[in-house]
Amino acid sequence: MKECNLTILENEPLARQVYRMTLSGAGPCRPGQFVNLQLPGLYLRRPVSVFDAEGDTLRIIYKTVGKGTELLSTLRPGQTLNALTGLGNGYDLEPAGEAPLLLGGGVGVPPLYLLARRLLEGGRRVKAVLGFNTREEVFGEEDFRALGCGVTVTTADGSYGRKGFVTDALPEEYTYYYTCGPEPMLRAVYRAAKGSGQFSFEERMGCGFGACMGCTCQTAAGPKRICRDGPVLKKEEILWKD
Ligand SMILES: Cc1cc2nc3c(=O)[nH]c(=O)nc-3n(C[C@H](O)[C@H](O)[C@H](O)COP(=O)(O)OP(=O)(O)OC[C@H]3O[C@@H](n4cnc5c(N)ncnc54)[C@H](O)[C@@H]3O)c2cc1C
Ligand code: FES
Repeated sequence: MKECNLTILENEPLARQVYRMTLSGAGPCRPGQFVNLQLPGLYLRRPVSVFDAEGDTLRIIYKTVGKGTELLSTLRPGQTLNALTGLGNGYDLEPAGEAPLLLGGGVGVPPLYLLARRLLEGGRRVKAVLGFNTREEVFGEEDFRALGCGVTVTTADGSYGRKGFVTDALPEEYTYYYTCGPEPMLRAVYRAAKGSGQFSFEERMGCGFGACMGCTCQTAAGPKRICRDGPVLKKEEILWKD
């Protein structure tokens, strides 16, 4: 973990309620890690996944859902943000095999991008299935394609790409999977995807670095703090609450 004062380079709308922000001055970040942003006037930091990281430049993609993210969307290039960077365990690339599958839903798509880059750099063939509710919410398709991934987009209402959920577009062949998205999607992936994989959880957080125990959940390997021992859990570790 590193505390940094990040300078905003860009903060642009990407899709309905979704923005991409580029920042400079960040510490190193691995795929699946997150940053915790301090916003003016708000006590709790807001956690956001690392979309991309290169040198000290960091990119995030966020959806405006409340006070913090609304405020984030009003910030302009040149302004600074205090952040804790390099948080969480991130995805383990080791078990990916030759042809890993990435399954992202909504704002669960961003952490899969840096993962895709690293997997492709390691010589893997990567397929991504990106799921959204409707056409206006779709983002990231061209970014993943430009990296060299095979990409399928699904929308729940069928207004773009394949109609349905990411679990309706699972390819026949893949060696392992990585996923991030809302909990109902993660549960569906857990049931439908074959073999093993890793799941990233976007749990509500307090401190974000392991101190308050507010994000503790039970796993097959005992209690874990999602912010520090996660947000990524292996399939075999997950115990669903009901
Ligand atoms: C590890 C991690 C990575 C994340 N990565 C991203 C990301 O890449 N892009 C992105 O847009 N969001 C991401 N989130 C979710 C993001 O942190 C919340 O949307 C944000 O904190 C909401 O703050 P707010 O002040 O705008 O909303 P608030 O006013 O705090 O809440 C507004 C609404 O959003 C809901 N909400 C708040 N936090 C969460 C959460 N963690 N999960 C689900 N619903 C929540 C609340 O229940 C409420 O309904 C991530 C969360 C975690 C824990
Ligand atoms: S949010 Fe404080 S321990 Fe995880």
